[in-house]
Formats: sequence, structure tokens, C-alpha cells
Amino acid sequence: MAPPLPLVAAAAAVAARRASPACFLLGRFKNPSVACAASIATTGEAAAAAAAAAAASPALAEEAIAPSSRGGSSSSVSSASPPGSGRSSSSASSSSTSSSVPSIFSARAKYAPHCVPWLRNSKLRANLEKYCDVRDVYEGDLSTVKVATLRAGLSGADGGGSGAASPAQQSSPSPGGGLSLSPSPSSSPARVVVKSFDKAKLLRRPDLQAKVKLEWEIHSALDHENVVRAFLASESDRHVGLFMEFAGDSDAYSYMAAKKRLALREDDARALVWDVLQALEHLHHGHGVVHRDIKSENVFRCAASGCWKLGDFGSALRLGDARTMARQPLKLEGTFSFAPPEYVAIWDRFTRAELLDATSFRLDTWSLGALAYDVLCGRAPFALRDDMPRAEEAEAILRAAPAFPSGLSYAAVGFMKQALEKDPQKRPTVRQLAAHPWFAG
Ligand SMILES: Nc1ncnc2c1ncn2[C@@H]1O[C@H](COP(=O)(O)OP(=O)(O)O)[C@@H](O)[C@H]1O
Ligand SMILES: [Mg+2]
Repeated sequence: MAPPLPLVAAAAAVAARRASPACFLLGRFKNPSVACAASIATTGEAAAAAAAAAAASPALAEEAIAPSSRGGSSSSVSSASPPGSGRSSSSASSSSTSSSVPSIFSARAKYAPHCVPWLRNSKLRANLEKYCDVRDVYEGDLSTVKVATLRAGLSGADGGGSGAASPAQQSSPSPGGGLSLSPSPSSSPARVVVKSFDKAKLLRRPDLQAKVKLEWEIHSALDHENVVRAFLASESDRHVGLFMEFAGDSDAYSYMAAKKRLALREDDARALVWDVLQALEHLHHGHGVVHRDIKSENVFRCAASGCWKLGDFGSALRLGDARTMARQPLKLEGTFSFAPPEYVAIWDRFTRAELLDATSFRLDTWSLGALAYDVLCGRAPFALRDDMPRAEEAEAILRAAPAFPSGLSYAAVGFMKQALEKDPQKRPTVRQLAAHPWFAG
């Protein structure tokens, strides 16, 4: 067995890792996800698949809101224009596309079943800054993320994201052009997150366009308390916005940082890992979806319930037969330090056949093990130093046994060892991991 890693050493390592220049969020640096677009560009078949997906965009746009055909969810998604959506109203111009700018989805907004009533008002969406306090929380290469809180006095029914809108709760523009919303039965703030994409960029890049559609298609079909709820996809001439539940100010990464802790207490870490396991059970077994970017930055703590929710479906794929795979833009995606050996081995260069072969639900079980390690030990399992060359970390992911700090329970270490099985064929499924003795106590 590898010698135990003292927590102090782990602390130094995490401080270093977390200072690594990546993407900046809320005054801290984060571990960036990567899509190997450059590599895929060298694989003709994959580029063709992305182009084909883009060419099929009108059909895909409609399909994007169809409920999953793989079962497991009783949810259905309504594409009908609800009262107040302003589809025929000229005042809603900003949430529908003009004839000069092509549509990404279609001219209408796409609603997920759990969309909060007040968001169904297209006039409000078109004037978000007027009706909401909006703050930026993230600026990435492809998207920006904002939190929008409906101003006092306009509080719509249920800002928390639970339950579909009843017709009586739906908001509508008043005849005078002002906004009228039903009185709120709850005192919770009506708050949503908007993940926004530059439309001009998407129109130039069919592969990115297909990726954003797939993110919405997959996310909007999910329905689980440990998964961030998708509300709505909407587009203006300049932006495509994915609206979703505000899942709290803390992802697991910033939660630890805010508490000035390098790692969670074992009980807290176990609760987090359990919640993510429940989310993965829903994805894998309910929808045939692999997430491919499980890490602490994509797991959110809901302040109201204290439970953890999985978000960011920007790397997710539906697994299935050759036809299913061909319909999706296939790139190698994820975050290197959380990626399993089968992806690390082909990280920089791969053929489509190799990528298909390496893409399975077992990607997520490894990354769940890496997430458990991160929240228990304060760093990704093989990222020993901040200045560790990529090749050295790759070598460790491929061949080394992880070192565990002293002080962890036997069951916790056993869980991580099982999940961090190098051979994907021998690696346990999420159901097998959920039966691990670590969760028995
Ligand atoms: N539903 C949400 N609730 C709260 N914060 C969110 C939510 N979605 C995203 N964020 C914040 O925005 C960041 C980036 O969002 P994410 O969907 O992970 O984009 P990316 O694909 O660029 O990683 C997250 O790490 C988180 O801090
Ligand atoms: Mg993310």
C-alpha cells in the first residue's frame, strides 16, 4: 500500500492546485474542463458527425424538447406556447429571433416541465435587467453565467424550482404593457441562473451549436432532486440562454474554500458523494446519459435543503447504438485531473473508434471516486503538485496507486479504491458503489 499522505502535505498541494491559472470565478481560480476540439478536428469522421448534427438542426431543435425515450422519467416537456409567452406579440421581440438572424433552437422558447411560472413571461425575459437584479458569477470561454433575482413586489409563484406551473400561476403581460404576476405563495426569492452563449459564435461554429442543443436536450429531460432543474431555453438575436434553478452560492469547491477548509469532514463528504451517486443513478439508469465532467465545481449545495445537486451538462452524452452516437457531437471532454485512465490515455490524440471505445458510464464512476478523494483529501487523487507536468500526472493516473492521508475510515478508503479502479471493465457501476459499506453506517 502507498504510504499515507499527511494532511499537511495534501493541504499544500490543494492550495497549489487551486491557485493554478484556469478560469476565474468569483475571485478564485477553478479547474477547467476541456473539450479536445483540436484533436477531433483531425478525425474526419467526428467532424462529419458534428456537421451532420448541425445540418439536422431544425429536427434536432424540435427533438431537443422531447422527453427521453429511454424511460425512467414520467416527465414530459411542453413545447406549446403558454399564456403570456408573447409568441404573437411584437413586444416580445427580444426572446424570439428576427428573420435576419437564423434560429438555433427555433423562434420559440423551449420549456422544461419544472419551469417556474414567472419565467414563462417572454416580456420579462426580454427585459431581464429591468425586472431582476442580475449579477455575473462566471465567465467561461463558451458561456457566461448570471444569477437573476426577481425584484421585490414582482415575486412570482415559487422561485425554488419545485413543481410545474399551473395555469393559474402563470404570469402574463398586462394589457397596459406592464408586468403582472400572480402573488407568491412562498417567501423564497424568485431566482434563476442563466447560462448564456454568444449566438454569433454558435452560428459560426456548428459543432458548438450542436453541443449547446445537446446540453439542453439532455438537461431538460432530467428530473431528480439531486440534479439542478432545467427551466427554459430561449434565444434572442444575440444570445442563447439556458435558464435553470439557482442551486445555491456554493459549488463543493467554493463551499470548502468559504469554510476555509481544505477538505470536508468525512460525514459531510459521504453525504455529498451519496447525493451525486443518486444523481448518477438517475442519469445512467433512467436516461442512458453519461455526465463526463464530475468534479467539485459541478456539484452544488442547495442552501435550503442542504442536499447536493449535480449540474453542468455541457459534456454529457447519451450512450447507445451507433445511430445514437452519430447524432451527437462527439468530442473528448472532461477535466484532466478527474478523468479516468481510458480517457487520459487518448487525451491528446485519438481516433473516433478509440474515443467511442473509451466512452462509457464507467467514466463517471472513476470521476466520482476522484470527487470523493477531492472532498476528503483536498485535491484530485493524482495531482500531487501544482507544477506537476501533465505527462507526470498522466503517468500516475495510468499506473500509480493513489496515496491516502491518515485519519480516514477504512470504508472511505475502500470506496475510493473501488471507484478508482484503473480497468474500466472491473470498475464498479454506480449501483454497485451505492451498495458499498461506506454508506451502511
Ligand atoms: N444552477 C446553478 N446554480 C448556481 N451556480 C451555478 C449554476 N450553474 C452554474 N453555476 C455557476 O457557474 C459556473 C459555471 O457553470 P457551468 O454550467 O459549470 O459552466 P461550464 O460548462 O463553463 O463549466 C459553475 O461552476 C457555478 O459556479
Ligand atoms: Mg462546469
